[in-house]
Amino acid sequence: MNRPHVIVVSEVTLDGKLTLYRGASSKELMSLMTRDVYAYLHSIRAQVDAIMVGCETVRTDDPSLTVRYVQGKNPIRVIPCSTANVPYNASIFSKDAPTIIATTKRAPEERVKRIKELGAEVIFAGEELVDFPYLLSELWNRGIRKLMVEGGASINWEFARLGFIDELRIIHLPVIVGGENVPTLVGGEGFKSLKKLLRFEFQGHKVIDGFLITEWKRV
Ligand SMILES: NC(=O)c1ccc[n+]([C@@H]2O[C@H](COP(=O)([O-])OP(=O)(O)OC[C@H]3O[C@@H](n4cnc5c(N)ncnc54)[C@H](OP(=O)(O)O)[C@@H]3O)[C@@H](O)[C@H]2O)c1
Repeated sequence: MNRPHVIVVSEVTLDGKLTLYRGASSKELMSLMTRDVYAYLHSIRAQVDAIMVGCETVRTDDPSLTVRYVQGKNPIRVIPCSTANVPYNASIFSKDAPTIIATTKRAPEERVKRIKELGAEVIFAGEELVDFPYLLSELWNRGIRKLMVEGGASINWEFARLGFIDELRIIHLPVIVGGENVPTLVGGEGFKSLKKLLRFEFQGHKVIDGFLITEWKRV
């Protein structure tokens, strides 16, 4: 199957958390980052054809997913959302970049119509949840060769489960958040077996303003 090269990028605390508590916007934690750390994140956005976050991240964080801290072209925004339940005033509908909402047969017609009126493309992929193998092949057919995935935990698990993570880049936030139910880098069922684990090879690191950044390649 042809699919884009996938780079998962995430800001993760020392204890592996993505946010302050379940349901909290990660923007609060990310406010710890300096301008140059943001520039690192945005430089990856500028190098990819498309960027994806899960629908829950759109509802919680309302990200714009554009390139702002460096010069560069905005990637196409792709949002998997099984019932097309995206707020119509979400920042991902701004005119700064094209937006694709990937949804399923469960999406009510009225929502699909409104989303199209907002200028976004709608791709139907799957029956219950968004079917990522199908969606990624559709993205490939649209010329998307490099896809950055910026979370959250559920979407990261889908990519991990399917073996669709080619590279991983972690911005380590030098704090501990704690809390058992706080989303971590990868959620879902978990592999539960040593044999099934996704393995990565260390590619390099950077330290920007005291923030360690590690880069990993799938082996
Ligand atoms: N620190 C960071 O780098 C970072 C980055 C991103 C997010 N976050 C944080 O992560 C949290 C959100 O993470 P999350 O795990 O709750 O949500 P998520 O991964 O952002 O989105 C999951 C949602 O995607 C939709 N979906 C569609 N197809 C799916 C499929 N095949 N598999 C799984 N989900 C599918 C579902 O919503 P529907 O039922 O509506 O389809 C599902 O609830 C927020 O607190 C956010 O702030 C942190």
